[in-house]
Amino acid sequence: MIRSRIVGTGSYLPAQVVTNAELAKRVDTSDEWIRTRTGIRERRIAAEEETTSDMGTEAANRAVAHAGIAPSEIDLIVLATATPDMSFPSSACIVQHRLGIIGKPAFDLSAACSGFLYALGVADQFLRNRSARTALVIGAEKFSRVLDWSDRNTCVLFGDGAGAAILRAEEGERGILSTHLHADGTYADMLMVARSGSRNPITQELIRTEAEYLVMRGNELFRVAVKTLEEAVLEALAANGLQAADVDLLIPHQANIRIIAATAKRLGLPMEKVVVNLERYGNTSAASIPIALDEAVRTDRIRPGDHVLFESFGGGLTWASALLKW
Ligand code: UT7
Repeated sequence: MIRSRIVGTGSYLPAQVVTNAELAKRVDTSDEWIRTRTGIRERRIAAEEETTSDMGTEAANRAVAHAGIAPSEIDLIVLATATPDMSFPSSACIVQHRLGIIGKPAFDLSAACSGFLYALGVADQFLRNRSARTALVIGAEKFSRVLDWSDRNTCVLFGDGAGAAILRAEEGERGILSTHLHADGTYADMLMVARSGSRNPITQELIRTEAEYLVMRGNELFRVAVKTLEEAVLEALAANGLQAADVDLLIPHQANIRIIAATAKRLGLPMEKVVVNLERYGNTSAASIPIALDEAVRTDRIRPGDHVLFESFGGGLTWASALLKW
């Protein structure tokens, strides 16, 4: 049986660290509120000129080096982002050019915080039906650009960064066992950036209105996230005939430590089996899972044969899971 194996990972975080204390100087918040309600201590913010594709390219180069392949071996690029460099061309095409690859498909995928798992699911289909042999899957975001830095409800939550994985089609039992992708547009307005699309083109009137920035009904979203993620992880396990005790490592989307802990509790997983890095990076949307994966790989938290479970939840609403045998 052909499966998609992750054979290399990479990540990139911008150099600038912004602590909770620094944000408390700009808006009416405190380190204590942010830490206890979210688990976040600091986040990385990209430089003014640094783009989503810059960060994606850097993460991709590191994943390529880690996999020990030549960029020319990559025959598919899927880049998940909600903050592309521009409407078009896609950020994936810009990354492709920088990697020196010509003629292979490259496209962006929009599923907000679930973007990386959506991209993983799409790439997995290409590999398993032999349309591609080696895929580069990237999650890259510059959320700092869509935040209202005077809104304490949202500006404390997000950060910038990128992560990438190289997938290779291989015969055997190891690799992606399943992906499950879901969406419910009923809740489309629960988390959105309404600007700059064809509905709300940027005009003088739009600037400095709410539509200019990310808006979120955080508390409602929190409750839907906890319930939906519980269903998503149970669905992934059931589809593979596995029990929660079979999960060696959970790599969740990094939105809020209380959401992550609720899912771990539902599975009966001790927090030692859960990758958490949001205290350092905040919520980096589609980049959060591949960054966490790369850190887990590089700190030897994953051994061959381990069952690794991924889950995510975000704007759309979208939610997704992936289960891998490493
Ligand atoms: O990644 C995609 C999906 N995103 C999510 O899943 C985010 C899900 N939601 C959350 O993580 C949480 O709902 C938040 C962290 C956004 C908010 O935490 P909460 O415990 O749900 O707080 P809340 O929204 O119910 O607000 C409680 C209070 C409010 O004050 P009042 O109305 O009770 O006086 C807020 O105005 O906390 C206030 N508040 C703040 N206070 C200090 C909101 N943000 C801040 C802040 N500092 N930064």
